[in-house]
Amino acid sequence: MIKIAPSILSADFAMLGRDLDRIRTADWVHVDVMDGAFVSNITIGVPVVTSIRKHTDMFLDVHLMIEKPARYIEAFAQAGADLLSIHLEADMPPGIQDALRLMEQHSVKKAIALRPITSPEAVLPYLEQLDMILVMTVEPGFGGQAFMEHQLETIASVRRYIDQYNPACDLQVDGGINPETAKRVIAAGANVLVAGSAVYGAPDIGLAIRTLRGD
Ligand code: DX5
Ligand code: ZN
Repeated sequence: MIKIAPSILSADFAMLGRDLDRIRTADWVHVDVMDGAFVSNITIGVPVVTSIRKHTDMFLDVHLMIEKPARYIEAFAQAGADLLSIHLEADMPPGIQDALRLMEQHSVKKAIALRPITSPEAVLPYLEQLDMILVMTVEPGFGGQAFMEHQLETIASVRRYIDQYNPACDLQVDGGINPETAKRVIAAGANVLVAGSAVYGAPDIGLAIRTLRGD
């Protein structure tokens, strides 16, 4: 089953309730948190996740593009995140392990995200404890960028590792997903697709979600 996670980075933040209602036929809500340090952009933080949680029952998939994420796991869990993705490049291994332990403690699903430069093998020490791996198909920081072709190989490698070591683990892709790239990432092994501009930029959002899912 393919899941679609629209990224609210492409929503109108002054109309966030309306823009959450517009993606009700999707599977998850993808929330991009950026700290101006791990990536150059700054987006939204804990209070916005609290407000989103009050507005919708949808599964909240929170992508943390922040340095030393262990510092904020408890706060995002209490704000109502269902899943937290932390970047492998955002801390040293003990800090990453600490963040995963905190997610377990706060009953939040655990994911590790990989920048395009990071090799797929880097997830292996953590794979058995993860609920999801996120393979970035653009450099994190902004919506609306072009899909990086070479990441199809990373997706395929991560899919092989998941099938071998933790078949229940989801494989999410994020960046430059549109109806055409969606088919290729699904063929490479992805099962959760993030899409910002391809959903919020579409004239018919419901149709865009169905098309990405391949319905
Ligand atoms: C980029 C974010 C993405 C972004 C995707 O750093 O992680 O979630 O919103 O936007 P599109 O789908 O427009 O590439
Ligand atoms: Zn994202």
